[in-house]
Amino acid sequence: MRNAVIACLWLASPALADDIGSAPRGATLAQEICAVCHAVTRGETSPDPDAPGFAEVADLVSTTRQSLFVFLNTPHPSMPNIILEREESDDLIAYILSLRAE
Ligand code: HEC
Repeated sequence: MRNAVIACLWLASPALADDIGSAPRGATLAQEICAVCHAVTRGETSPDPDAPGFAEVADLVSTTRQSLFVFLNTPHPSMPNIILEREESDDLIAYILSLRAE
């Protein structure tokens, strides 16, 4: 019950914008949609050699929620036009950022 209240506050609060998205849901989406090309967990090799592993992406200092959001919402020639729902892109971003090395 207490968790449900916290979850509601959290969803309702734009001030906590860094907490948007669900990393576990993002992990599932990554396996389903992105893993054809990308290594989606640390220590894997990307099936497409041109596609950086998500852990590598997470480790780049230039990677932020903002940079991932822009990337995932802009058409890229090397990625098929994957149309993501806003919620899916939030979940994927949460997942990618969760891979960042401590
Ligand atoms: C058909 C293969 C393919 C699929 C499927 C694919 N990607 Fe990519 N992706 C690439 C390639 C190739 C690159 C590197 C070239 C580029 O940056 O455009 C890339 C680059 C990226 C980058 C940029 C990394 C950086 O340099 O900052 C991100 C983030 C990313 N992909 C996320 C995703 C996500 C999330 C999905 C699933 C929703 C996905 N990709 C699905 C091929 C793919």
